[in-house]
Amino acid sequence: MLSYRHAFHAGNHADVLKHFVQVQLHLYMNQKDVPYTYIDTHSGAGVYALDSFQATKTAEFDTGIGPLWNATEVPAPLKPYLDLVKSMNPSGKMRYYPGSPYVADQMARLDDRLRLFELHPADVKILHENVRKAEAHKAEQGERARGKRVIIEHGDGFQSLKKLLPPPSRRALVLVDPPYEVKDDYKKVRDALEEALGRFPSGMYAVWYPVLQRMESRQFPDKLKRLPAKEWLNVTLTISTPGPDGIGLHSSGMFILNPPYTLEAMLRETMPYLVQVLGKDSGARFTIERGTQLTGAASARLAGEGPRAPVGNARRASPLSGKGSLRLPGQSMLREGEEEGRGPGAKPAKPATPAPRRAWRPDGNTQGKPQAPASSPARAESKRPSDGGPRTAGPRPGNRSGKR
Ligand SMILES: C[S@@+](CC[C@H](N)C(=O)[O-])C[C@H]1O[C@@H](n2cnc3c(N)ncnc32)[C@H](O)[C@@H]1O
Repeated sequence: MLSYRHAFHAGNHADVLKHFVQVQLHLYMNQKDVPYTYIDTHSGAGVYALDSFQATKTAEFDTGIGPLWNATEVPAPLKPYLDLVKSMNPSGKMRYYPGSPYVADQMARLDDRLRLFELHPADVKILHENVRKAEAHKAEQGERARGKRVIIEHGDGFQSLKKLLPPPSRRALVLVDPPYEVKDDYKKVRDALEEALGRFPSGMYAVWYPVLQRMESRQFPDKLKRLPAKEWLNVTLTISTPGPDGIGLHSSGMFILNPPYTLEAMLRETMPYLVQVLGKDSGARFTIERGTQLTGAASARLAGEGPRAPVGNARRASPLSGKGSLRLPGQSMLREGEEEGRGPGAKPAKPATPAPRRAWRPDGNTQGKPQAPASSPARAESKRPSDGGPRTAGPRPGNRSGKR
């Protein structure tokens, strides 16, 4: 079943969290000269036109990149991400939004390799076209990679990941971002990562996931914590309290296995700002937790991560106030919202990295052609409706929230 189209959701709050973190992971990988392989198991179309039929249908970008577009004093770690989005919109009008392959293309170096998987026949075609244009544009500028820098495969990313590991240079950044249309996706992510870690334990693996009421979603981070990676980091962004109907995506997370040691500080500097700008009500908040392989969450304390943060709500406190935190029940180590008064324009923890180098001339997702919305009963439990239509899917008995 392939009803999901990311074009309906491009640029929403979940994309902002995912792509901001992705940019940070590339920046970290770029610090070493040795090239790396970027593997995108679920690539989507690569570039999205925010004025397309799909994107404007529910205008989800209004929950994400929209409010950030005119922000001026942003935390330093957010800047490379925003610069990247702006660089593809040179007119200053917010028209295009990058998908993860575009982010990777811009952030990775000429010697790095991109391996992109996409199952949807229409999206893989658009992805091919976007990459072709990008390469033509780079060639015009005299930039040529040795060998094939970007390879796109019309195939199953869960299945394919293992065949690329370990990568030739023994360095890899892997993004796993399925639609979670079906609850099987949670298990497939976990299983694929377990196998990947078995083949290549030192890879950096980033997983996006929806934070929903359904059991698979609630248990998901704990399952990832038990994977045999040396370390993990889990960050979530919630923009509002779910309504009683449980419809809509209010919260999502990025779970990183073998994260950069610098990432937590970047997140602590940036997440309060995202909560402040994207938050819609008092339910808006972020969480950051990290731990080691030993015992999942509990290991964080064993590893001497320090005391727990006070319980509270990051939304209520401005990033400038230095207050705000949250501890979720059952999480032994959660140091969320402990900002030390850092806010917009505050001094970065480390120097900001240069903005992306190249620019695609993107087609957007639709190439001007509205596509008939798909619909699927499974969407009722999905984090991301394939049709982008009104969020009217009825709740399943026993699971009344998080549906869209
Ligand atoms: C959330 S979107 C990806 C968005 C993209 N990572 C980004 O950030 O721009 C998920 C994509 O996975 C595709 N997909 C679904 N199942 C897949 C599978 N088993 N293997 C590869 N792609 C799949 C869908 O067609 C969809 O385009």
